[in-house]
Amino acid sequence: MKLPEGLAGVIVDQTRISSTKNEILTYAGYPITELKDVPYEEIVFLLWNLRLPTESELVSFRRELVSQMKLPAETVRLMERIAREPQHPMSILRTTVSLLGTTNDNEHDEPPRILAKMLTAVAAIIRIRNDQPIKRSKPDFGVVENFIYLFSGKRPTAEQVKMLNTVMVLHADHEFNASAFTARVVASTQSDYYSCLTTAVCSLKGPLHGGANEQVFKMLETIKQTGQDPLEYVERQLESGQKIMGFGHRVYKHGDPRAAILREIARKISYETGNEAYFEMEEQIRDFMFEKTHLHPNVDYYTAVIYHCFNLDRDTFTTMFAACRTAGWLAHIMEQREEGCLIRPSSEYIGETNRHYHADKEAH
Ligand code: SDX
Repeated sequence: MKLPEGLAGVIVDQTRISSTKNEILTYAGYPITELKDVPYEEIVFLLWNLRLPTESELVSFRRELVSQMKLPAETVRLMERIAREPQHPMSILRTTVSLLGTTNDNEHDEPPRILAKMLTAVAAIIRIRNDQPIKRSKPDFGVVENFIYLFSGKRPTAEQVKMLNTVMVLHADHEFNASAFTARVVASTQSDYYSCLTTAVCSLKGPLHGGANEQVFKMLETIKQTGQDPLEYVERQLESGQKIMGFGHRVYKHGDPRAAILREIARKISYETGNEAYFEMEEQIRDFMFEKTHLHPNVDYYTAVIYHCFNLDRDTFTTMFAACRTAGWLAHIMEQREEGCLIRPSSEYIGETNRHYHADKEAH
């Protein structure tokens, strides 16, 4: 029997959180195209409760999230210590999430507080790495506004909030992607939230998953710095059997619907910030890739340029993905704990058989 490689196409469980059926992305039944400008916290509420909040529920949910956007002082001290050695920000985040699961009161942490801490931790990692002081959240700012303020140190414009809000909404969940599935496997043993989230961060870090956004920008920087022709560069990479990061997808074979929306944001923000050369390079590579391979860009392709336009360093891009995706991870952990059973599949053994220890030892 030929097994599907990497569980491709295998339905391993049921979910009510999100769907990519027929290559249309929906959250709890709502198409993403209708949700892209909805406040991020409303999307989080939807993913966790599978219904829209009332106005008063939304106000109190927002207030709760913003009031919890802070970290224990001891965690910040330890983060600063870890960050002293050159470490990849995703490694710092992985250890930070694990650390958050060791504070005195972590056992009482519920999803809103955990999400708020994750957003704050990602912003703190960005600032610590730039030797900048950690900022305190502002009670009168919204969630996305606070998040930008915490990593940039400046109050964002309404336009910046709108753009990052859409980025965050589009990254909030994506059914059984590798990191959500990893979190679900751990949740299926009834392990705690922080253990599940730590493993999700580990899974997202890889370049075939969330780590691709950094690799996309690395490619653009290399092309720019070396003055190479983008199309010749891509052609050489393809000829040598390399993957072009930010292209292809396990479930979207006709294009990632998120990429189409992100493309317009990348276009706008790159021209507004004088980074249009990167966007134009992406446009050229996109057309060339389609011509050569029929592959489409995925969610990671345009976020690379968008994050650069938010003045973020390339190696922090995947931590931004983690910040946005924590909402989805938490939704999956809750669903798995409430409705799922232990995930423990079977394997087909294809190794040696009928060996005998004593006989083989004597023969040596
Ligand atoms: C994310 O799953 C999710 O939902 C993830 C995500 C989310 O929101 O959680 O959407 C986020 O992880 C996006 C994906 C980011 N990764 C990359 O951009 C890395 C580059 N892309 C790939 O390596 C690849 O396309 C994957 C990993 C995304 C999908 O891999 P699959 O489904 O296993 O497909 P494949 O590697 O078997 O590719 C099929 C064919 C192969 O050619 P053949 O062997 O059939 O001749 O397409 C080729 C591949 O070589 N191919 C590529 C390519 N992607 C696929 N060729 C060149 N460049 C690429 N990027």
